Amino acid sequence: MVEHDPHAVLTIGDFAARAGLATSAVRYYESLGLVSSVRTGGNQRRYRRAELRRVAFIRAARSVGLSLDEVKAALGRLPDGRVPDRADWTRLSGEWRERIERQIAALRELQEDLDGCVGCGCLSIDKCSIYNREDKVAARGAGPQLGFKPF
Ligand code: FES
Repeated sequence: MVEHDPHAVLTIGDFAARAGLATSAVRYYESLGLVSSVRTGGNQRRYRRAELRRVAFIRAARSVGLSLDEVKAALGRLPDGRVPDRADWTRLSGEWRERIERQIAALRELQEDLDGCVGCGCLSIDKCSIYNREDKVAARGAGPQLGFKPF
């Protein structure tokens, strides 16, 4: 039965419908090298059913917060452009778990900083860690630390 044949090919409309994407998104992913198609004699795109697994991988990776460049890099580490198998998924999802843990830790820190701002509203560059979040020289001490040089 064609339905379960991994070598069966789909038109772009059928592929997009099964992947839950717009056809424009399929073309975009293809232009980025994330999915691939073969061409018919009439130059129409046909997608192997196995490419649906690449789309599932892309969507899962995007939901974790990976950029398309990062997704492409992850897929690019697979030999011969094959689709991700269970072992690939296990390895990569483990890396993503660490990423999510770092994101959660950063958000917790942000939440704690924000707790200090509730009811304040000063937005002081000296005092407010939300407003001045990236202050890398604060640890050097109070006052100017970067040696302002007038003209
Ligand atoms: S608004 Fe005052 S400390 Fe952030």
